Amino acid sequence: MPAPVTVYEVGPRDGLQNEARQVPSEGKLRLLRALAEAGLSRVEATSFVSPKWIPQLADADQVVAALPPGPAYAVLVPNDKGLARLLAALDARPAGGPRVDAAVFLSASESHNRRNVNKGVDETLAAFEPVVGPARARGLRVRGYVSTAFGCPYEGKVDPARVVSVAERLLALGCEQISLGDTIGVGTPDQVRRLLDLLRPRVRLEQVALHMHDTRGTALANVLAGLEGGVTTFDSSVGGLGGCPYAPGASGNLATEDLVYMLRGMGHETGVDFDRLLLAGSLAEELVGHPLPGKALQAERAARVAGRVQ
Ligand code: HMG
Ligand code: MG
Repeated sequence: MPAPVTVYEVGPRDGLQNEARQVPSEGKLRLLRALAEAGLSRVEATSFVSPKWIPQLADADQVVAALPPGPAYAVLVPNDKGLARLLAALDARPAGGPRVDAAVFLSASESHNRRNVNKGVDETLAAFEPVVGPARARGLRVRGYVSTAFGCPYEGKVDPARVVSVAERLLALGCEQISLGDTIGVGTPDQVRRLLDLLRPRVRLEQVALHMHDTRGTALANVLAGLEGGVTTFDSSVGGLGGCPYAPGASGNLATEDLVYMLRGMGHETGVDFDRLLLAGSLAEELVGHPLPGKALQAERAARVAGRVQ
């Protein structure tokens, strides 16, 4: 039997952080409800980064206050200020709300890390110490992202040994899962295989997720290489939400519909209701005010409009 796969939805965070249009909190909550109704079990809902850097997600506390039941959620937390904001938002909720975990992030390449979080890699890892331990002490799981794991916009190729070293340091800090990010969508399946071969003797692959952006159309091929290599958690974004609003045509994360379509066809159980997922994708388009690039979303809709059954 093909292994069950966890689809880790990041659209409300990784997608909306890149949109030119500010989606109001009520719209974000409608999208989160649609994703919960589609059966997604893990959803990254928002981000407690600086609202000056990412104004699109400045309403993180309002979003956390009203998360719909169903999934286990995660939010990005870049530093101790972010954790304090998250814990205050959790404390302000009525008891019994859904689970919310934390995710820290840094890049394997020094230059991208500086542009993204204004610090060097070592300094960023040091800044995670007052985040990961205290978050875990409060019962939160902590995911650690390694961005630019397959290439950097400023440095080009990234040494996979460096990716492994950053991943090991995140695990040593207490992260329970590592997500390897192809931040700019340049990776190819041979790179995925090479990286997993390096990780396998040092890290349990159940602790590894792949976070592929689909900028150059290689995301699903990379997922397949990951699946064959033993990875069972893949990040994706509803409709392929994301990309850069200032780079027309640039696509964002691997679309959740494309990922679920492929996994379903291969017999992997995901728990996701594909028809309801399409509804979430259409809602995401309505909220951002433009069509989204996900191929399965567009194809299924066109087929249904034409009255054809797939
Ligand atoms: P900083 O300005 O260098 O840090 O920001 P600072 O500690 O010196 O603080 C300066 C100011 O920021 C202060 O305000 C702080 O209060 C405020 P001021 O004195 O100027 O009025 N501040 C905060 N406010 C609210 N929440 C906070 C917070 N921290 C500081 N948590 C920081 C450092 C990391 C916060 C900043 O650089 C930042 O927010 N960067 C945004 C990074 C980001 O969100 N990038 C996108 C997500 S990562 C990603 O997309 C990749 C991923 O998808 C995987 C992949 O694809 O590879 C995960
Ligand atoms: Mg990303």
